[in-house]
Amino acid sequence: MLATASEAIRKGTKRYVEKYGALTRLLHFIHLISFIVLAITGLSLAYKWNGLGEFLFGSMKNVKSVHEFFGWVLTISGGLLFLKLLPESTFKPYDFKWLAKLGGYLDPTHKTHAPAGRVNAGQKIFYWFGLIALIVMAVTGFSLMYDLVSKDLRALFLVVHFVVGVLWISFVIIHFYLATIANPGTIWAMINGKVSEDYIKVHNPEWYKELKEKGIL
Ligand code: HEM
Repeated sequence: MLATASEAIRKGTKRYVEKYGALTRLLHFIHLISFIVLAITGLSLAYKWNGLGEFLFGSMKNVKSVHEFFGWVLTISGGLLFLKLLPESTFKPYDFKWLAKLGGYLDPTHKTHAPAGRVNAGQKIFYWFGLIALIVMAVTGFSLMYDLVSKDLRALFLVVHFVVGVLWISFVIIHFYLATIANPGTIWAMINGKVSEDYIKVHNPEWYKELKEKGIL
C-alpha cells in the first residue's frame, strides 16, 4: 500500500477507470453553474447587494428574474443528478468505520486506512444533505415565487429558504475544496470521468477490491 494519496498519484499507473459517464458529468456541470448563479443572485437579494446585482445583471428586477429562472434549472438538473447518483449513495457497514476515523483527514501522517467504496461516507452525507436541501429549496422557493402560501407561512418559508441556502453554500465550499485542493486527481472524475488505478487503491479501497474481483483491473 502506498503511503499517501499524493505519493500514489505521482507514481500513477497508466490504467484508468471511468467513474462518471458523460450524462452525470453534464448534469453536475449544469447543476454547479445554476448553483453559483443562484448563490450570487440569492445573496444579493437577501443582503440588498444592489451594486453587485446591478453591475452583473443590469437591475435588481433582473436579479430576481435570473434567480427564478435558475431555480428551475437547479431543480431539474439537480433532480436528475441526484437520481443518477442514488445507487452509489446508500450506506454500507464499512462507511461507519470511515466516519469513526473521519476519513483519516485528521491524521497528519496520512497513513490512516479509511475504508470507502465508489464514494466515501463523507460524500454520501454531502449527497443526502444536498438532496434534502434541494427539496426544501424547491418547495419553499416555488411557493414564494408563485404565491402559493398564506402571509404567515410565507414569512416562515423565507427564513427556511435563506437558512438552508446559506448552509448549502457552506457545504458546497467544503465540497469544492475537497474535490480540488485537498485531494489531487479527484477533479478528473468530473472532467473526463476517469480516475487512475492507484487513485482508486488509496481513496476507494472497497471499490478497488470489487474491480479486481470483476477483472476490470
Ligand atoms: C464548485 C465547484 C465544484 C467542483 C469543483 C465539484 C467537483 C466534484 C467532483 C470532482 C466530484 C466527484 C468526486 C468523487 O467521485 O470522488 C463531485 C461529486 C459531486 N458533486 Fe460536485 N463539484 C462542484 C460543485 C457542486 C455543486 C454546486 C453541487 C450541488 C449543489 C455538487 C454536488 C455533487 C454531488 C452530489 C456529488 C456526488 C457526491 C460526492 O462525490 O461528493 N457539486 N463534484
